[in-house]
Amino acid sequence: MLNEQAVLDALKNVQEPELGKDLVTLNMIKDIEIEGDKLTFTVQLTTPACPLKDEIDKRCREGLAGVEGLNQIEIKWGSSVARGATNPQMEEMAPGIKNVIAVSSGKGGVGKTTVAVNLAVALAREGASVGILDADIYGPNVPKMMGITGQPQSEDGKMVPPEAHGVKVMSMGFLVPDDTPLVWRGPMIHGAIQQFLKDVAWGEVDYLIIDLPPGTGDAQLSICQLMPVTGAVIVTTPQEVSLLDSKRGLAMFQKVNVPLLGIIENMSYFLCPHCDERTDIFSTGGGEKAAVTLDVPFLGAVPINTAIREGGDAGVPVVASNPESPQSEQLIPIARDIAAKIAVRNQNNVLRVI
Ligand SMILES: Nc1ncnc2c1ncn2[C@@H]1O[C@H](COP(=O)(O)OP(=O)(O)O)[C@@H](O)[C@H]1O
Ligand SMILES: [Mg+2]
Repeated sequence: MLNEQAVLDALKNVQEPELGKDLVTLNMIKDIEIEGDKLTFTVQLTTPACPLKDEIDKRCREGLAGVEGLNQIEIKWGSSVARGATNPQMEEMAPGIKNVIAVSSGKGGVGKTTVAVNLAVALAREGASVGILDADIYGPNVPKMMGITGQPQSEDGKMVPPEAHGVKVMSMGFLVPDDTPLVWRGPMIHGAIQQFLKDVAWGEVDYLIIDLPPGTGDAQLSICQLMPVTGAVIVTTPQEVSLLDSKRGLAMFQKVNVPLLGIIENMSYFLCPHCDERTDIFSTGGGEKAAVTLDVPFLGAVPINTAIREGGDAGVPVVASNPESPQSEQLIPIARDIAAKIAVRNQNNVLRVI
C-alpha cells in the first residue's frame, strides 16, 4: 500500500540541484495526497523563476520510481521567495520588500536601463512580485521604457507605484519635473531614497530591481549603503574598457559588502532582424573576460538588435512583446539565473543585516 512515509523516505534521497540538500530537509515538499495508486504533491520552489524546475521534476520521478504501489504522480509547483539582506530602515519603512537587486554599469549608454526593465518583466512573467526603482538621477528612463506616462497616484498618504507589464514602477523622474537640471547632492539622494521606501506603497515585493546611476561615484555608493542590496549585476559592452569599468564596479560593491551576482554583456553581437544571423561587430567576449578575471559569474550575452531598442522606445520591453524571440531567449534565462543565485545566497547565508 502506498503511504506518505514511503513517499517522504524516497524524496529524502532527491537532492535539490543547487542547494546541496534533499527536498524533504529543505522543507520543499508540501501537500502530499494519496488516492489509491496516485500520488499528488507540491514542490515549493525558492523562486517562481526557477531554472531547474524540469530537472527537479525529473529527479522526483526518478526518486519515486521504486515506491511500492505507486502508479501515477502529479507534481504541482509553488514558490516562496526567501528574504535577503535587510536593514533597520527597510524593516521599518518597507518590510514587504524581500530582495533588492542593483543593476549598475561603469558608464552610461551601455543598456543598463534596457537590461533592468527586461529583467524585471521577465521575473514578473514567471510569477514573482516585482518592483523597479529608477534611481538613475542622471537619466531616469525607466518610466519611458515601461510605457508609463503621468505621475503616481496618492492613496492614504502614500504614492502608489504605477504598474506596467506586471511590474511596480517608481522613479526619480516622478520626483522632479522634466526641465529641472539634476544636480544631486548626497543629502538629496539620502532624502529621495528614504522617500522611496517610506512614502511608497510597495506592498509585497519578491525582487526590487534598482536601476543605479552609471559609474561608481558617491551617488552610487550612497544608494547602495541606504538600500539593503541582496546582490548586484554589472552591465557592460564588449569593448576592452569594460573590463576596467567592471573592476571599479566590483571594488565599489565590495566596499559596501554587496555580493556581485555577475556580469551581463549587452550589445554583445549583432542579430540581423531579417535573418537572425549573428555577427560579432566588436571583439565579442569582453564581459566574459571581465567575469573570468574578476572571478565572478558571467550571466549571459544580449545581442544588439532593433527589436530591443524599439521595445524601449515604445515602452514595451521585448520580453513582454515577444517572449519567444531570440532576444528574449537570451534575457529570460539571465533573469532566472539571477533569481536562482539569490535563492542560493539566501539559503546559505544567515540573514545579512546591514
Ligand atoms: N541590446 C540592445 N540592442 C539595441 N539597442 C539597445 C540595446 N540595449 C540598449 N539599446 C539602446 O541603446 C540606448 C541606450 O540604452 P539604455 O538602456 O538607455 O542605456 P543606459 O541605461 O546604460 O544609459 C537606448 O536607445 C536603447 O534602446
Ligand atoms: Mg539608463
